[in-house]
Amino acid sequence: MAALKKLPVVSPIRTLARITRFTTNPISVLEEYLEDYGESFIMYMGGSQRSIITTNPDFAQYVLQKNHRNYKKSSIQTEHLGQFIGQGLLTSNGAYWLQQRRLIQPGFHRNRLAGLVNLIQEVIDEYLEDFDVIVKAGKPIDIYPSMMRLTFRIVVRALFSASLKEADLERLSVIISEIQEFVIRIIRQPFLRPIFRLQGQYRKHIRLMHEANEIILSIIRERRASGKEQDDLLQMLLDARYEDTGKGMTDQQLIEEATILTVAGHETTANAMSWTWYLMSQHPEAVKKMRAEQNQILQNGPLAFENLRQLTYTTQVIEESMRIYPPAWITDREAIEADEFEGIPIPKGTVVVPYIYGLHHSSQLWDQPATFRPERFAPEANKQHHSFRYLPFGAGPRMCIGNNFAIMEMQLILSSMLQRYDFKLAPNAQIAARPLVTLRPKNGVPMLFTDRRT
Ligand code: HEM
Repeated sequence: MAALKKLPVVSPIRTLARITRFTTNPISVLEEYLEDYGESFIMYMGGSQRSIITTNPDFAQYVLQKNHRNYKKSSIQTEHLGQFIGQGLLTSNGAYWLQQRRLIQPGFHRNRLAGLVNLIQEVIDEYLEDFDVIVKAGKPIDIYPSMMRLTFRIVVRALFSASLKEADLERLSVIISEIQEFVIRIIRQPFLRPIFRLQGQYRKHIRLMHEANEIILSIIRERRASGKEQDDLLQMLLDARYEDTGKGMTDQQLIEEATILTVAGHETTANAMSWTWYLMSQHPEAVKKMRAEQNQILQNGPLAFENLRQLTYTTQVIEESMRIYPPAWITDREAIEADEFEGIPIPKGTVVVPYIYGLHHSSQLWDQPATFRPERFAPEANKQHHSFRYLPFGAGPRMCIGNNFAIMEMQLILSSMLQRYDFKLAPNAQIAARPLVTLRPKNGVPMLFTDRRT
């Protein structure tokens, strides 16, 4: 048996001295630790949770894929969010998660998504009608809330097609963002939880969720009663049958999975898009290449599903943007039983943290990681590298179920908007990352757009 390896431990004093900075800017603290301790080290998160932070791609692969059966998502990812949005793909573990994943996975197969291209394009076109009006006003536009609005609309239309009324869509958007903000506060300020409870904040947010559930339930009931099939994700959820019983999901399960897809399916994409806009504003040569590629494909009419594969450079820009600014910048897995990886002991209950941002910026794994270079994702350039050095969608059996959906959506948004607008960063822009649950732009991304068709 190999001798056990001792990982360096961040001392409690050092952790304490950086606690405020860790809450506001964890990336800068983790970078400092990586510099001092190397690719894997132990840290007591929140003072008591033994955690191994790692940027070793083999270690990430071990917990996410090779020995995934011994690992579950920690309570941050499951209970804290699950108490509001319910149990489903994103928020469950073990047998229930596996059963749901098997049921829903086929609905997200690339070919099934082909049916959603027109629907997504329609939402984008509608959205850009309104965007045109703001562009005409000539004032800076913060692209972050714009992308949030657009990606929210896309995911709810992909789920419910036209069944969701405009007023309900707006209400759902408000409720979901309020709940997300509250969950962030619970995670970031655990010491305030008793106060939140006393203030009735938990009850308030659970009431909000019930309101959202009612909106979704009414759509499900209407759909069942009408007997009319639609080409959307709700139909896919309604039609899915468990292999063993041949039965479909209950209304409650449908509500929970639809809510989870709405929550998981818009903020991450909005972040990826916002960072892509920022990077494009700094790299006009890349925009030129993207436009040339798109023009060539668009010569033959509007973008169709079959053309999306041809958007190779546009896709490389999206990939490079998610490398530099991974919307899901960190993930975790808790050891169910004691384990060991290459001599590193992993006692039961230890949380292993594949530090995605660190992997994407490691100079051991990337040539000039700080440089924006979409060409590094050209298929021939990428072959000889460890596939776990790049994890924007996670990996293993719990890899993002919406990855193809997200890429397709971003390809469609970029193709439509680059044809329509010229853009640059607003002169007063202060670009900084704010790593909460996702990696958001701290002060937004203010940009100036002009219509290039006029
Ligand atoms: C750029 C956009 C997106 C990014 C960066 C992203 C990232 C991720 C990551 C990293 C995970 C795995 C987390 C872990 O292993 O701990 C995940 C899971 C998940 N994502 Fe995404 N996601 C995106 C878009 C979407 C979309 C559009 C949808 C749905 C329409 C979606 C639905 C989900 C669901 C349901 C899970 C949980 C899967 C499971 O545990 O079985 N995501 N996502």
